[in-house]
Amino acid sequence: MNHGLACIAGARPNFMKIAPLVRAFDGAGLAPYVIHTGQHYDEKMSASFFRDLRIPEPRVNLGVGSGSHVFQIAEVMKRLEAEFTANRPRAVIVVGDVNSTVAGAITGVKMGIPVAHVEAGLRSFDRAMPEETNRVLTDAIADWLFTSEPAANENLAREGVPQEKIHFVGNVMIDTLLENLKQARAVKAFEQFGVTKKGYAVLTLHRPSNVDDRSRLEAILRAVTQLHKTVPVLFIIHPRTQCKIKEFGFADNPALNGYQLIDPQPYHSMLGLTESARLVLTDSGGLQEETTALGVPCLTIRDNTERPVTVEVGSNKLVSHQTEVLATAIRDALDISGKPWQIPELWDGQAAVRIAEILKVELLRS
Ligand code: UD1
Repeated sequence: MNHGLACIAGARPNFMKIAPLVRAFDGAGLAPYVIHTGQHYDEKMSASFFRDLRIPEPRVNLGVGSGSHVFQIAEVMKRLEAEFTANRPRAVIVVGDVNSTVAGAITGVKMGIPVAHVEAGLRSFDRAMPEETNRVLTDAIADWLFTSEPAANENLAREGVPQEKIHFVGNVMIDTLLENLKQARAVKAFEQFGVTKKGYAVLTLHRPSNVDDRSRLEAILRAVTQLHKTVPVLFIIHPRTQCKIKEFGFADNPALNGYQLIDPQPYHSMLGLTESARLVLTDSGGLQEETTALGVPCLTIRDNTERPVTVEVGSNKLVSHQTEVLATAIRDALDISGKPWQIPELWDGQAAVRIAEILKVELLRS
């Protein structure tokens, strides 16, 4: 048995969450180390984040790679069991809602190792969304549930989670954002793409519900192509989406290809592009939060959000994929850009430190 905390990271959105945790755990003497599951593996989806965010080299990379959800979860569990058997941690830390998150939680619990879930309690109430089952399963079995917004506390209470397991600590993703903003501004990424500050829109799409569905993706790209005629759109493309655009033959259709296509960006560049945008269009969870913190209006092309505080404060709006509805929402959003709103409670850059303080006390007890 070692005395360290095994911090599990697998897919791109995990890396921003694990970075401040590792630092805070280190500062609290909790001996953190990183285990990379390998769910994401490209330089642009993984390694560049480790560099930009100064995340320590993983003790091990499980090398799981792409595959079906069952394959990914099962492989992470098998390989993690071998790793924990050889090197049993004091606790397992999982973040977010990706396949590596639920796989890490189940493996820890089944091996009798306590598990902490950071970003617990978020619910879209849409079980067709792969992440929703990951969230529900992880929260049902984790020992410590660290939440980022009030709705998460309510969701967990409604599901019967004992109050003493729930800790409202704020948002670790915003810890990373605040820590890196100066560097992100220095990069001036927008200049690289020939657009002006507050003179362009950012688009990201990767949810299977949007990009795997030919008619939905077509409807969205039609509205985006209209927007691009007045405000340039930087479409920062996810590998899944790139494949689908090719497969559906949209790349050569002028009614559907009005945007500037950009590779996945490293963290500082992406943060800078987001902050300097006039508007963000997305189906990402993290970007809904980042735009809220940065004061940039966001339209989320989804039927629901697991992050309702972003809608409540007024920075984020859910919008249909239908071309005309989306085009109207874009026009409205361009009219009101720059409207100030309140930053959600405890999105102050200190969430990871709060988590470290709580875990230190809890682990002393056990
Ligand atoms: C995963 C997460 C999603 C998260 C997203 C962020 C789950 C269920 N989904 O979705 O919650 O918002 O990551 O990106 O865990 N690929 C590459 N290079 C890589 C990784 C993937 O080219 O480094 C390609 C592969 O073709 C792969 C596809 O992208 O099949 C999808 O990757 P996968 O990890 O299955 O899911 P994401 O859509 O990225």
